[in-house]
Amino acid sequence: MKVGVLGTGDVGRVLASGFIMHGHEVKIGSREPDSDKLKEWKANNGPSASTGSFADAAKFGEVVVLATLWSGTQDALTLAGPGNLKGKVVIDATNPLVFAENGPPSLALGWKDSGGEQVQRWLPGAHVVKAFNIVGNQHMVNPEFPCGPPTMFIAGDDKKAKGTVTDILRSFGWEVSDIGGIEGARVLEPMCILWVVYAMRNRSRNHAFKMLHKE
Ligand SMILES: NC(=O)c1ccc[n+]([C@@H]2O[C@H](COP(=O)([O-])OP(=O)(O)OC[C@H]3O[C@@H](n4cnc5c(N)ncnc54)[C@H](OP(=O)(O)O)[C@@H]3O)[C@@H](O)[C@H]2O)c1
Repeated sequence: MKVGVLGTGDVGRVLASGFIMHGHEVKIGSREPDSDKLKEWKANNGPSASTGSFADAAKFGEVVVLATLWSGTQDALTLAGPGNLKGKVVIDATNPLVFAENGPPSLALGWKDSGGEQVQRWLPGAHVVKAFNIVGNQHMVNPEFPCGPPTMFIAGDDKKAKGTVTDILRSFGWEVSDIGGIEGARVLEPMCILWVVYAMRNRSRNHAFKMLHKE
């Protein structure tokens, strides 16, 4: 599959490398496609790796990953061109964070709205699925925990798109739980804050959520 990745931070590069590791072709999009960071990423990821503008990556991807700083997300999507994402699955890994000097970040949107819903409004023709936002980038691909695969919760309005994202997540080693429409992002985005608070209190990035259940 051809995957476009909008975002060159840790999340964008980790997911891009993960898709390549799992047999896909990836183009990462950026305002600076020739940056040293992207040259290094491309050199380390072989012939399936390419870089381009946000619009190049959006056009390239059959599936497109959104991994941008929240405050730059609308601009990045404008540069990507909503028309280039029409009818496509867009995996929204962002969190609408407001950073604090001391202590954990908070959310710019909450309870009655969410980043996921805002992204879907910015991309009315795309099938947005919230995923990957509840874990640190270190464990997004092939998470290995002694008690088995952690749970990735996903939310989105399009059933087929969620099927595609579920297949991707399972191939990456996740157990998947579909929590419903894109408004589910209202509860998934606060889970990022819980992940960060735990990280700060325990000086750890080696954790992920798992849903326990019985018949
Ligand atoms: N870090 C994690 O472990 C983690 C885990 C879960 C979710 N998330 C979420 O995933 C997203 C990406 O996080 P990250 O830490 O990988 O990277 P980041 O530093 O939050 O974002 C980097 C990307 O944002 C783009 N960007 C920033 N300002 C922009 C603007 N004004 N216009 C257009 N693009 C702009 C940059 O574009 P250029 O390439 O053009 O500079 C770059 O590609 C965030 O929303 C974050 O909250 C992060």
